[in-house]
Amino acid sequence: MSNFLDVLNERSSIRKFKDQEIPADVCKQLIEAGLKAPTAANKQEIHFSVVKGDNPIQKEIQNDLNPNAENSFYFNAPVIMYLSGPDDFKWSPVDAGIAVENIHLTAKALGLGSVILGCMVKIVNGEKKEYYQKKLCIPEGNSLLIAVAIGYPDTEKTPHTFDFEKNVTIV
Ligand SMILES: Cc1cc2nc3c(=O)[nH]c(=O)nc-3n(C[C@H](O)[C@H](O)[C@H](O)COP(=O)(O)O)c2cc1C
Repeated sequence: MSNFLDVLNERSSIRKFKDQEIPADVCKQLIEAGLKAPTAANKQEIHFSVVKGDNPIQKEIQNDLNPNAENSFYFNAPVIMYLSGPDDFKWSPVDAGIAVENIHLTAKALGLGSVILGCMVKIVNGEKKEYYQKKLCIPEGNSLLIAVAIGYPDTEKTPHTFDFEKNVTIV
């Protein structure tokens, strides 16, 4: 699927993935989608830590977040990307949000699925921040802002509905 409006209209968060690796060239396309995103003042400050799904660090984070969880909040995705940005640049959270959406939409366009993940941010930036930062190769002075789990979808999902009247005012 490559028509942008089709991608936009048919996108959903995917939380079930096939046991199938993402080829390196496809993964590179996804990373570049993040790098192509606009950033405030063209600062291009967002860092992307790309981690294989079976890296034990994910289990460790999961365990710190919720040791009793029955299912992985990474949904066994083959690739997780962690986006971090400098603490001293006020637009980093916005820039990371735009970059992660670029990745999410590009994944859809390439026949993959993904889910944006924020649930582990407080763990990675928490009391074990230094440890996790090293493990995830997050640059010094950065904090984790958002992540995305990506793989080949093993489910179909109807796009969410929305309430135009509630959320929009034409001024
Ligand atoms: C900033 C942000 C953080 C999110 N964090 C999580 C998360 O930690 N776990 C999860 O399963 N989904 C997470 N999501 C996905 C949302 O739950 C999802 O986008 C929402 O339910 C709407 O569903 P849709 O994307 O299929 O339209 C996150 C989405 C955003 C934008």
